[in-house]
Amino acid sequence: MKKIVASAMAITMGLSLVSCGSEKPDTNNAPTSSQKKTVGISMPAQELERWNNDGEYLKSQFEAAGYDVELVYAGNNSSRQNNDIMGMIADNVDLLLIAAVDGTTLSTTLEDAKNKNISVVSYDRLIMNTDAITYYVSYDNYLVGKLQAQFLRDQLSLETTAGPYNIEFVAGDAGDNNAKYFFNGAYETLKDYIEAGKLVVPSGMTTFERVATPDWAVDEAEKNMKTTLKSCYADGETLDAVICANDSTALGVTKAIASNYTGEKYPIIIGQDGDIENLKNIVDGKQAMTVYKNVNDEATVAFEVCKRVLQGEVPTGKLTSEFAVPVNFDSETYENGVKHVQSYLLVPEVVTKDNLQLMVNTGLYKWDDDNKYLELVK
Ligand code: GAL
Repeated sequence: MKKIVASAMAITMGLSLVSCGSEKPDTNNAPTSSQKKTVGISMPAQELERWNNDGEYLKSQFEAAGYDVELVYAGNNSSRQNNDIMGMIADNVDLLLIAAVDGTTLSTTLEDAKNKNISVVSYDRLIMNTDAITYYVSYDNYLVGKLQAQFLRDQLSLETTAGPYNIEFVAGDAGDNNAKYFFNGAYETLKDYIEAGKLVVPSGMTTFERVATPDWAVDEAEKNMKTTLKSCYADGETLDAVICANDSTALGVTKAIASNYTGEKYPIIIGQDGDIENLKNIVDGKQAMTVYKNVNDEATVAFEVCKRVLQGEVPTGKLTSEFAVPVNFDSETYENGVKHVQSYLLVPEVVTKDNLQLMVNTGLYKWDDDNKYLELVK
């Protein structure tokens, strides 16, 4: 059977992650102009690299398939996102695809969508406390944190050495449902080592609430890390590792380390997303790894799910076999306070300086003229 691949990839992949060809989106079922449907896409913030990529890629997919698209970015502001969505409901869009700023603030607005029979698909972040959403498309968020922790375990040889090693956690925005999954995936994987004293958290900040970073902001992460360095590492104590929930927070931590860290050993800094600046830091040895989620693959899965819903179908687990990348259909893990949401979950990858070529092989990144750093293919 022909597999569905992310369409921007014009090269043949040598990867296990994706085996991309150069197909155009499937326009066989494209609506004619008289029945043209509109998709409303609401993204959290244009400020972060990944959401720009998601938004633009989704828009192009839907447009190429003959749909009209309203694409809006909420500037990380949940009231603005609510207003955006209310506007799209008033415009009678046929489907809403939403990556929530704060998953807990949309239920009233989405009640209106439900009353108007507008389908809602939750993108990347789960929308809470509503039965208006039918599907959730994301990467396996818990696995992201677990991969970060396993990387650290291997780097520090925690199974075979006594330690102790000093480690700090930096989590994402408290309103983002994913942020807890990332933190829990990492913390629970390392918990036994912490309890055994092999890993020590000198700041004592071992709960999600204490290490959350408002808006995932670089500046907030930098400020918080400076405070931690000042209170716990001011006398040249070694900080062995920092697990950061994503690359914007890892960037803030890296800046704080550059200006305020006096220890001799450079810490292992871990992030998520594969942002360009962080990939540069990985080449320069300032960040050890990032968990990479190919945004085009995630968008492609979301697009296919939405397309089928718009065509009146009811996507099930069977759809997963049609994708060229591994996707799990899961009806149990993601409970949003009202129901278990049917989820399509993709599988993230670990990227270090040793396998950066993996990013190039996606077709989304290329080496710069000096073959040193990665750039986005645009
Ligand atoms: C998460 C998302 C991450 C990261 C973060 C910051 O919800 O899954 O990939 O981008 O938000 O916006």
